[in-house]
Amino acid sequence: MKLLLTGGTGYIGSHACVELLAAGHEVVIVDNLSNSSVKVLDRIEKISSVRPIFVEADVGDRAAMRSIFSLHNIAAVMHFSGSKSVGESCDLPLKYYNNNVAGTLALLEVMSDFGIKKMVFSSSASVYSEHNISPLDETMATSPTNPYGRTKLVIEEILSDLVNSDPQWSVISLRYFNPIGAHSSGLIGESPNGIPNNLIPYVAQVAVGVLPHVQVFGDDYETKDGTGVRDYIHVVDLAIAHLQALQALESLKGYGVINIGTGCGTSVLDIICFFSEVCKKDIPYKIVPRRPGDVATVYADASLANTLLDWHAKRDLKVMIEDTWRWQSLNPDGYEIQSSTISLNE
Ligand code: UFG
Repeated sequence: MKLLLTGGTGYIGSHACVELLAAGHEVVIVDNLSNSSVKVLDRIEKISSVRPIFVEADVGDRAAMRSIFSLHNIAAVMHFSGSKSVGESCDLPLKYYNNNVAGTLALLEVMSDFGIKKMVFSSSASVYSEHNISPLDETMATSPTNPYGRTKLVIEEILSDLVNSDPQWSVISLRYFNPIGAHSSGLIGESPNGIPNNLIPYVAQVAVGVLPHVQVFGDDYETKDGTGVRDYIHVVDLAIAHLQALQALESLKGYGVINIGTGCGTSVLDIICFFSEVCKKDIPYKIVPRRPGDVATVYADASLANTLLDWHAKRDLKVMIEDTWRWQSLNPDGYEIQSSTISLNE
């Protein structure tokens, strides 16, 4: 099956690409490279011995998208592309509504014109209301606290309306919890631009000496050690969930939202401690005031993914951190400097 991956050179898209190629699918990637590197394609090829077809374009560019669908016999779309920084979305909401919502609308219109009506969409646990008590299940109230989360919820609603209007559409929105880790080869991983916003890439950069210490945002939450608790999920498990969702699109008609998390919560201090054990280095940290908008505890009820997709997270926190560390230590500057030491046979 030929699949189109929007945002396929990004962190999650690239890992999904590897799993889809391993399962025998043909992959076409469309990406505008605004937050990713074209070097990812070499790395994917090294892992998979296959190079995905790549088109540099924006999903909002209808002409470019038309040309892709004309040239390739695409059976389904995995829609990863979009802007994803919560903080930036508060400063630049129009950028987020444009890239995420308007981009998706353009993509859906072109898909519809070409009669391609299957999609797996990258949604987020940030659509849930902060007043819900974890574990969060898919029936709980949605009420995002920032423009990024609102774009994800608006897109979910558009998808639901579209499927209701035309039963030929079949769409699954996967609500990701906190994806971390990297491919076990150390060849692909998360390569944030500038200073990372998220905990794990920040800790990883402290561990390699790029940043001096971790700032722990608050130690007075009602959690076991006072620091925030999140549901960290290995990016390869998340990638595999996309493969299972693709299979489910064949049998599950209509529209569905499914949480993708482990169902376990881990505190910030536990992450720092585990990371320090894995990399065998001291990781300095300072407790600083809470980050606005953060909540104490967020973890998934993943039972719907278990039953509907026959998907279970297999990689535990130790593997998540070992894989993050391998990626970070082999590629301290992300994709900017090609590590000559990387070999799949090592
Ligand atoms: N944290 C720190 N220091 C940091 C960064 C984070 O202490 O430098 C803490 C946060 O306060 C929080 C935890 O680490 O308690 C995780 O924070 P992240 O920024 O890594 O992740 P969030 O849970 O805030 O948000 C992430 C994504 C969102 C997504 C959400 C879904 O950034 O896009 O998970 O749960 F929507």
